[in-house]
Amino acid sequence: MEELIIKAVRKIIEARKAVALTGAGISAESGIPTFRDKGGLWDRYDPEEYATIQAFQENPAKVWTMLEEFMEMKKAKPNPGHFGLAELEKMGHLRAIITQNVDNLHQEAGNAEVIEFHGNFRRAICLKCGSRYKMSEISLEKLPPRCSCGNALKPDAVFFGEPITPLTLQRAQEISQNCDLMLVIGTSAVVYPAASMPEIAKQAGAKIIEINPEKTYLSDYISDYFIKGLSGKILPIIVDEIKRMAKEN
Ligand code: OAD
Repeated sequence: MEELIIKAVRKIIEARKAVALTGAGISAESGIPTFRDKGGLWDRYDPEEYATIQAFQENPAKVWTMLEEFMEMKKAKPNPGHFGLAELEKMGHLRAIITQNVDNLHQEAGNAEVIEFHGNFRRAICLKCGSRYKMSEISLEKLPPRCSCGNALKPDAVFFGEPITPLTLQRAQEISQNCDLMLVIGTSAVVYPAASMPEIAKQAGAKIIEINPEKTYLSDYISDYFIKGLSGKILPIIVDEIKRMAKEN
């Protein structure tokens, strides 16, 4: 394992245009449930009933009951995995993060270049008049919360059946196409188009370093280095190792 991490660290140091793709796993150590792990959100809530745009339009109050649990993430704080990526950016070893997470924790940890691929739960949007609200400013006492125009508000996040914002998709594809290394962290890589980013990067010649306690389909087919472990443990080790090597040179 140590040898594998050292090899990966060398690749990170050599890279000039490294980026990261993150998923729910990086926030697991902040206490936010993942979707597909045992006991994850989709174990308890059928996504067909709770996460599609059709379900939301038919019964927004019901969907908001699940969202309320997810809203508990308001209390969550970045963990050492998030801070590790923030430090990599500060040290000049990471250009951007494409995140599928809607929890805002990369931004809170200090990363400046974060592409919110699936939106951000810190905002709510009215699909009728387009008004946006800060989640902290709306009352969740009566569900669903409503816009001043009367329509039900939706978190500013992508539901199944909704397209990714075109500019966001374009930016993520460009970044993936142009990077020379991609860290793929804490994602099961089953939800497209986010899951196609490592494929785009690989095809364009980038090295792929995957960090996850479990193998994914990427691990054997796309990843050059699969580091088995929790991102909150592995990323600080990577950062320390980069600093140690910098001191030696
Ligand atoms: P998943 O729940 O599908 O996958 C979480 C991944 O994180 C799994 O591969 C776990 O093994 C891994 N994991 C768990 N704990 C970890 C830890 N401490 N460190 C590192 N990895 C860990 O979550 P996503 O891949 O993010 O989309 O799911 C993708 C999308 O599916 C979400 O953005 C969401 C969901 O439906 C929408 O809502 C549109």
